[in-house]
Order: sequence, then C-alpha cells, then structure tokens
Amino acid sequence: MASLRRIRTILLIFTLILAMQMSFSTGIGVNFGRNGDNLPSPQNVVSLYKKCGIKLLRLFEPNPDILEALKGSNLQVSLGVKNGDVQSLASSKEAANQWVNTNVAPYKGDVNFKWIVLGNEIIPGAEGIYATQAMKNIKDAINSIGLTKTIVTTSFYMPGIATSYPPSAGAFTKDVVNVMKDVTAYLLQTGAPLMANVYPYYAYTSNPKDIKLEYATFQTTNTVVVDGGLSYSNLFDAMVDSVYAALGKINAGNVSLVIGETGWPTAGNEPYSSKENAKTYNKNLIQYVQSGKGTPKKPNQTIDVFIFAMFNENQKTTGIEQNWGLFYPNMNHVYPLLNC
Ligand SMILES: *[C@@H]1O[C@H](CO)[C@@H](O)[C@H](O)[C@H]1NC(C)=O
Ligand SMILES: *[C@@H]1O[C@H](CO)[C@@H](O)[C@H](O)[C@H]1NC(C)=O
Repeated sequence: MASLRRIRTILLIFTLILAMQMSFSTGIGVNFGRNGDNLPSPQNVVSLYKKCGIKLLRLFEPNPDILEALKGSNLQVSLGVKNGDVQSLASSKEAANQWVNTNVAPYKGDVNFKWIVLGNEIIPGAEGIYATQAMKNIKDAINSIGLTKTIVTTSFYMPGIATSYPPSAGAFTKDVVNVMKDVTAYLLQTGAPLMANVYPYYAYTSNPKDIKLEYATFQTTNTVVVDGGLSYSNLFDAMVDSVYAALGKINAGNVSLVIGETGWPTAGNEPYSSKENAKTYNKNLIQYVQSGKGTPKKPNQTIDVFIFAMFNENQKTTGIEQNWGLFYPNMNHVYPLLNC
C-alpha cells in the first residue's frame, strides 16, 4: 500500500509539473513587432520566447539577423511578406523564387517555417487583389525547395466584415467579396487556414455603452448573446464566428482560421487601456485557447492565436499603439502574465 501511495504521489507531482510547464504551450504565439529603436538583440528575443515557453513567433517581414537567431530554436515561425512586396510576388514566378531563395532557403534546415503570410491586414485594402496569385507563386517556390508542409496564407482584418452583430449576420464588405472568393478558393484547395486579426478591444471601445468589459475580456460565464441556437459568453467567440459566417456565405465555410493578432493595450486610452485589463484579457485568452473548446459555431476546433505583441514599440504612433507589449524593451514584464 505504501508503495502504491508513493507511486500516486509521484504521478501527482509529475502531472502538476506537466501542467505548470504547459501553462503557455502549443496554440499560443506572440507577434514580434519591431517598430522600436530600443528592442533587445535577436538572440535575447529568441531566448526570452524560449524561457517563457512561447512556442510560436510571428515576424511581419524577413530579417536576416532574426532568422539567423532563430536557427535551432525549435520555435514555430510565421514569416510575413511586406504588403508592398505582394504585388511583385504575384506578378512573377521569378520574384517569388527569389524571395524564397533569399529569405527562407538559407535557414530551411534550422528554422521551422510553419507559415508564410502574404501581407499583414492586406485585406481589406488596394493590394488585396494580389494576395491569391502571390500565395500561389510563393507556395510553388516553397514546394520547390522541399518545404511542402509550410502553410501559405494571407491576412484579413475585421473592417472587411460589414457587420458582426449578431455573429450569424457576419458578411464580407462589398469591396472585399471578390477578393475573398479568390483567396478562399485557394485556401480550400490547399487546406490552409486564413489568418485573421481579431481585436475585441476595438469592438468594445467603439461601443462601451452596449458592450460590457466583462464580455470583452472573457469574464462572463453566463450567456450574453443568443444567436439562433448558439449562445455567446465572450466577444472573441462572437467576432470569430462572424468571420466564419461571412466565409459560409461565399461557400467557404470549411476554411479554418488562425488568429494573427489579438491583444489589449496597457496605456494610451484610459480607462479602457490598463495593465489590469490587458492581463485579464490575455490570461483568459490563453486559457480559452488551451481549453480547445472552439467557438459556438465550430465547437472543439482548435485554433492557433498570436498575441500582439512581445514588446512595447516606441516608434509607433503615440498612444495605445506604443503599449501593446507583454514586455518592455529591457525585457521586464509590463504586467505579470507569464512565469518567466
Ligand atoms: C466541409 O467539410 C466536411 C467534412 O470534411 C464535408 O463533409 C463538407 O462537404 C464540406 N463542405 C463544403 C461546403 O465543402
Ligand atoms: C466536443 O467535445 C466534447 C467533449 O469531448 C464532446 O462532448 C462534444 O460532443 C464535442 N462536440 C462536437 C460538436 O464535436
């Protein structure tokens, strides 16, 4: 009996250790935005991701020093193409091959390129019409260097949804419908998810009279919105389902999503921005993603989510824009979120 109890104790301790280590694991990533003149060295940034157990890193554009630092890190990397480069990558196979040969091929054995993303928030926008052909050219170029598993996608953001209330009313705005039909035809063919940036913060602060902070920050457990047969207790689910609803209306209901950006600012728009609200939102977001329970419209569908952002960035516009970081540039926590 004594040994059985000992085994149980050991098992319990082991489980606890596992649970602690998994507090920030697969499924959750952080954007490495680089609009700051005081950010840590690439090597220190990569070390910080690893120390904090963050497994997914998103870069908005290639940078040789950072890609070099990522070698051997085992981080899953989302590498962006600058919006300004998407048109040329769409216009020629050579340009796409060259982009891949410069920015991916030299690192391919040592860096885990999980995603290549054509642009950031390129839809809606004038350059969105180039996204599909650029994805095709980059996918061919990536395949030709043997990275057949790398996901090639593009980036959408919420102004491309005409209305998101109730979620089932979600529909693409007129200006993006045709672009989204092209994009989703490609994504359905390859099975790649669409990257969407989803910020409950902006939805909430644009209408704080009707939307409660608790609903925007995953703090309610009761149903707040009933839509058809579906019940919503947080704004993130409602916004994500409005994107799924819009996809369904163009026969692309089977396209899955990866959330390229979400988060909450700590300063610049008081009282909505605060360390406390940011901590609440991101802490609950992490728990939500790790629960794997999905949205009311797509239950049990796991989803990768990138928090914006790793650091406060002093070269962005004054105000909230500079205050989305989990860390200060000196690598101290802005607020306690991660055990590192
Ligand atoms: C979506 O995927 C499911 C399961 O793979 C399939 O049965 C269904 O036909 C697909 N729907 C559409 C509209 O393609
Ligand atoms: C989701 O998972 C739960 C728990 O495993 C299960 O009871 C439920 O039937 C699943 N729902 C769907 C739609 O697959």
